[in-house]
Amino acid sequence: NKHLISAADLSKDDALLILDTAEELARVSERSIKKLPTLRGRTVVNLFFEDSTRTRISFEAAAKRLSADVINFSAKGSSVSKGESLKDTALTLEAMGADAVVMRHGASGAPYRLANWIRGSVVNAGDGTHEHPTQALLDAFTMRRHLKNLEGRKITIVGDVLHSRVARSNVLLLSTLGADVTLVAPPTLLPVSVGTWPCDVSYDLDAVLPKSDVIMMLRVQKERMNAAYFPSEREYSRRYGLDRDRFAKLPDDAIVMHPGPMNRGMEIAAEVADSARSTIVEQVANGVTTRMAVLYLLLGGEI
Ligand code: CP
Repeated sequence: NKHLISAADLSKDDALLILDTAEELARVSERSIKKLPTLRGRTVVNLFFEDSTRTRISFEAAAKRLSADVINFSAKGSSVSKGESLKDTALTLEAMGADAVVMRHGASGAPYRLANWIRGSVVNAGDGTHEHPTQALLDAFTMRRHLKNLEGRKITIVGDVLHSRVARSNVLLLSTLGADVTLVAPPTLLPVSVGTWPCDVSYDLDAVLPKSDVIMMLRVQKERMNAAYFPSEREYSRRYGLDRDRFAKLPDDAIVMHPGPMNRGMEIAAEVADSARSTIVEQVANGVTTRMAVLYLLLGGEI
C-alpha cells in the first residue's frame, strides 16, 4: 500500500508488520538513540484542517526523529480561510515536493480525494466521523504491550460511537488482529450501520465490565451533537461514565484507555483517568513510535 487511509486496508500481516516495526523503533529510542537518518531528504507535510494536539505533534515528532523535513500546515491562518479549495491546496503541496501528506479533515473521505491529486503517500490523521487508523494502531500497540497477544482478548469500547472515527478504526483493526470487540453506547449514539461492523453491541456497561481485558472510553463529541442525541450530561455519566464504582468491577489486570482529549468527570472520572491502570499518557508516547513505523514503512515502500 502507498497510502494509509482506512484500517480496513490493513491485512493482519500488514498490521503486525507496523506493530513489530514500532516495537523495534521503541527499543532503539530506549537505547537513547533519539534520531535515525532513515528519511533524510524526504518531506512530510502535516495538513490539518481540524484542531489536534496529540496527532499533529506526534506526527511531527515521528517525522523529525526519522530525519525527514517537516512542513506544518494548519488551515487557520492559511489561504483556506480565503476560500482556497482542498484541490488547490493539495496541488500547492505537490509543487513543494511532499513525499507524504498527513491530513486531518472534517469531511469523511477527504483523504481519498487528496490521494487522487498528489503523487506522495496520504496518511489519514482523522477524517470526519470516518476513520483515524494511526490512533487504532497506537491503541493496538499499547494493548499488545500489556496483554501480549490480542487474539481472543475482550475489548470494550464505550460511548459516543456515532461520531467516533477512533471507534470505527479500532473495531476494524482489532477484529483483523483477532480480538473480540464489544461496543457499549446509548442507542442514539450508535450509527445505523453498526449491525454490519465486526463486533458485538451492548447497552449494559455494568454487565460487560467484569469480562473486559481493556476498556476504552470515547470522548463525548458535544461539538458534533444536538439535543436529540444527548439529552443530559448527568444521565449520560450515570449510565455510561467510568467512575470509581464501575472501575472496581473490572478484572484486576484490565487496562483503561482513552484516545484523548478527555471530558474529565463525564465519560471518565479524573481518579480513574489518573490511576495506575490507565494507559492514557502511555498511548500518547506510543503514538510517536507507531507513527514513526507508519512513515518508515510507507516511504520505504514496504507496505
Ligand atoms: N486522539 C486524538 O486524535 O487527539 P487529537 O485530536 O488531540 O489529535
